[in-house]
Amino acid sequence: MEFIKPYAALVEQELRSLPFPDVPETLYAPQRYILENGGKRVRPVLALMSCGICGKKPERALPAALAVELLHNFTLIHDDIMDQADSRRSMPSVHIKWDVPSAILSGDGLFVQSMLQLQRLSDDIDHKKVSGIFLEGINRVCEGQALDMEFENRQNVSADEYLSMIGGKTAALISASLVMGGLCGNADDRQIEHLDTIGTSLGLAFQIQDDWLDVTADPEKFGKRRAGDIYEGKKTFLMLNALENCSDTERSRIQVLLSEPVLTSEMVDEVLSLYKSCGAIDAAYNEFINYYRRAEEALHAFEQSPYKQDLLQLINYLKNREI
Ligand code: IPE
Ligand code: IPE
Ligand code: MG
Ligand code: MG
Ligand code: MG
Repeated sequence: MEFIKPYAALVEQELRSLPFPDVPETLYAPQRYILENGGKRVRPVLALMSCGICGKKPERALPAALAVELLHNFTLIHDDIMDQADSRRSMPSVHIKWDVPSAILSGDGLFVQSMLQLQRLSDDIDHKKVSGIFLEGINRVCEGQALDMEFENRQNVSADEYLSMIGGKTAALISASLVMGGLCGNADDRQIEHLDTIGTSLGLAFQIQDDWLDVTADPEKFGKRRAGDIYEGKKTFLMLNALENCSDTERSRIQVLLSEPVLTSEMVDEVLSLYKSCGAIDAAYNEFINYYRRAEEALHAFEQSPYKQDLLQLINYLKNREI
C-alpha cells in the first residue's frame, strides 16, 4: 500500500482544509462525518495518477480529485437512503445517525462543494471540458441509479441492461475521474479515449466485485450489511447469473423469494446457497477479474512512467480488496 500513500496524503490534506462550519449543524456535521469516516479514496487517487501518466504533476489535478471524491460521498449518502442501508464503512449511515431530510440536504451540499472545486483549476486547464466530463458523468450516475431501483421491481433484466446500469451508477464516475485527471495533465484526444476505456473497464470490474463482496466479504471489514443486495431485491451480477444458470425448479423458487415483500434471514440464506450451487459466485469473480485485466491491457497504450506503475499497482490492490 506504500505506493498509494503520497496520493492519498494529498487528498486528505485538501479535504481537511475544506471549511465545514459548526452551524447549521444538520448541514455540515453529516458532511464532516462521512468525509472523516474513511473510504478508500480510489477516485481522487485515479485522477491524480492519470494527470501524472499524461505528463504533468499530479497536484495539478487536485481540484478535480476533490470534486470526484466529494461527489462520490454525496452519492453514498443518497444511495444509502435509496437502498435502505443502515451502515456504511462500519458506521451508521448518515440518514440513520441523523435523519432522511438531513441526509438529503447534506448530500446536496456536498454536490455543491464538489462543483465549487472545479473553479480552483488552474487557468491553463480547459475548465469547460473538465466540467463537461464531470456533469455528463454525474448524469450517467443518476441514470444508473434510476435503473438500479427500477430493476428491483423487475424479474427479467438482461445482461446488457445490467451492464448499462452499472456502467452508469459506478463506471461513469470512475471513468470521469481518469478523464478529468488526464485533462488536467493536458492529455490529447487519443489519450482521453484510452483513459475512458481504462476507467470503464475498471468501473465495471469494481461494481461486479462490489456485488460479489456483498455476499462473500466479512461484513465487519466491508462495513455494509451482509447480503444487503439480496434483502433489497437488487439485480446484481450474481442474481442475474443464478437466474440464468439454475434449474427451472430453482428459478421458480428464486422468483417466489424475489416477490416476497420482506425477506427473512433464512430466505436470504436460501438464495445464498442457490448462488453457490449454480456457480454464480465463481462466475462473478471470474467476470470482475476479466474486467480488471481489460483495464490493465488498455493501460499499455501509455508510455512507461512511475505513475503508470502506480496505477498498475492500484489495479492489483483493487483486485484483492476486502473493503
Ligand atoms: C462504494 O464505493 C460504492 C460503489 C460504487 C460500489 P467505494 O467502495 O469506493 O466506497 P468508499 O469510498 O471506499 O467507502
Ligand atoms: C453504488 O452502488 C452506486 C453509487 C453509490 C452511485 P451500490 O448501492 O451497490 O453501492 P454500495 O454497495 O451501497 O456501496
Ligand atoms: Mg447501496
Ligand atoms: Mg445502490
Ligand atoms: Mg453494493
